[in-house]
Amino acid sequence: MPELTWIGKEKVITHHQDVPYRVLEHKYGFSVEGGESEKETKSGNKIIHGDNLEALKALLPEYEGKIKCIYIDPPYNTGNEKWVYNDNVNHPKIKKWLNEVVGTEGEDLTRHDKWLCMMYPRLKLLHKLLSEDGAIFISIDDNEQANLKLICDEIFGKQNFRNNIIIKRGTKSVQAQFENIDKLGIACEFIVCYSKNNNYRLPHFYFQLDEIRKGTWNNHWRGTDRPTMRYEIFGITPQKGQWRWGKDRSIKAIENYKLCVDNLNDSNKEVNQDNIDLWYCENAINNNIEIDLLRLSKNNKPEHYIAPTNQKYGNNLWDDLLVNGTSEYNKYSDITFDNPKNPKIIERIVSWIADKDSIILDSFAGSGTTGHAVLNLNKLDGGNRKFILVEMEDYAQDITAERVKRVINGYGEGNKKVEGTGGEFDYYELGERLFLEDNNLNEEVGQEKIREYIYYTETKEFLNRERTKKDWYLLDNYLNTGYYFYYEKDKLTVLSIDNLNIVTQKAEQYVIYADICLLDKEFMLKNNIIFKKIPRDIKHF
Ligand SMILES: C[S@@+](CC[C@H](N)C(=O)[O-])C[C@H]1O[C@@H](n2cnc3c(N)ncnc32)[C@H](O)[C@@H]1O
Repeated sequence: MPELTWIGKEKVITHHQDVPYRVLEHKYGFSVEGGESEKETKSGNKIIHGDNLEALKALLPEYEGKIKCIYIDPPYNTGNEKWVYNDNVNHPKIKKWLNEVVGTEGEDLTRHDKWLCMMYPRLKLLHKLLSEDGAIFISIDDNEQANLKLICDEIFGKQNFRNNIIIKRGTKSVQAQFENIDKLGIACEFIVCYSKNNNYRLPHFYFQLDEIRKGTWNNHWRGTDRPTMRYEIFGITPQKGQWRWGKDRSIKAIENYKLCVDNLNDSNKEVNQDNIDLWYCENAINNNIEIDLLRLSKNNKPEHYIAPTNQKYGNNLWDDLLVNGTSEYNKYSDITFDNPKNPKIIERIVSWIADKDSIILDSFAGSGTTGHAVLNLNKLDGGNRKFILVEMEDYAQDITAERVKRVINGYGEGNKKVEGTGGEFDYYELGERLFLEDNNLNEEVGQEKIREYIYYTETKEFLNRERTKKDWYLLDNYLNTGYYFYYEKDKLTVLSIDNLNIVTQKAEQYVIYADICLLDKEFMLKNNIIFKKIPRDIKHF
């Protein structure tokens, strides 16, 4: 498989592993009823202010392999947007780039290298977060599309490439001003789609039609050769090929058509396409069932019915949507954001790929279009999809979160008023790192956060037990195992016979974290005690 190389590649391939794990610090919760409050809504909807490299790492313990749909819209590296390389990769060649604004083509010979170094570790973390039956969609244009495709082939696997979706973008033609041109105007950009697993099959994808398409009839015979599907209907038995359906289904469909004709005759209606469609709508669509119909065509060939529909199977040309098609929100909002994406694109992706209770992640959130799209869909079909948005810039609060609040509450005035979607979310900042450079626990994080982390790494459950004096070192009991974190700031903790009284509740098995263990192996085996050394045995994500 061809592989892309660039300056700094070998330094960033494993960089995602070196990124420090930081805790998420809850700043406020927001809901329609309560507005902004200190209380965590625990709704699962999250807006995180911070660099997505660290935010994605912070999400790993809880969300690894759980995100069904990822949509990202990273900087395109056009030379027009100002993005800054800010990953602290520990190498002099790359450190030189730190906090530098990336220049334009010709002016900055490493601009593509920087972009690839920035994207690679983030895509690695996104790959870890994606579920086995999930898909990632990445907006991009000509500037980096080819490079992006090659690194995604490497990270997600070439076999998991699904589509390069083409989206229309507004373009001005300036050809008339010049005698000749250097290239054609750009009227499209792309959304690159990968899955995590090539066994995963995508759901059917439909375009909505503007008008309902009338019912039609299809030839019931097809050329694929299956002798078991050659049986007699209407006195015809094919000599080769096959009927489309099994015998029972075809016979039932013939009866259904007879019933349809009888019903129309009984009510003195002509047996034409419009009346057949009406009969179908009344009997099938209104009752939410499918009814097969099969008849003999005017040319004496069996044909089956294709019901009226307002959908058609879609493909990768999405030229019915404009990339930056402005939503009502952007039209009427006093808050401006350059080039927000058209929420209809994200609604289309999410409603296609995600289930009604899936988690949707956007780690380059910008003005929060993905949150808006998820809330819209939930309102439309009563779903309970969750969004996680990450935005690095300070406008995470005043633009990203503000938009989500307005969408939840409703916005606009008079005849331009848009009703709120309802919903809630929690807003977080990236907090202290959990481990110091020397791998020791960072006391600044606070014991509660450390205890929560340890318990989660052990059980994948949240620690809900209130700490009590009596059970001071107990995290909690889970599945007959007692989890203990015997830890004191500035003091060595020793697990020995003399201080086994730290174990305060009876369980079948005990997992005990401490600095040192003096218990002998036989005793531990007999009493089902597993010792874990702090910090050596604390799991890192
Ligand atoms: C093209 S905009 C996304 C626009 C968004 N799709 C919308 O509709 O509003 C890219 C966003 O990613 C943010 N961003 C860039 N690098 C980031 C990083 N390392 N961590 C988090 N956000 C980042 C930028 O600040 C910018 O807001």
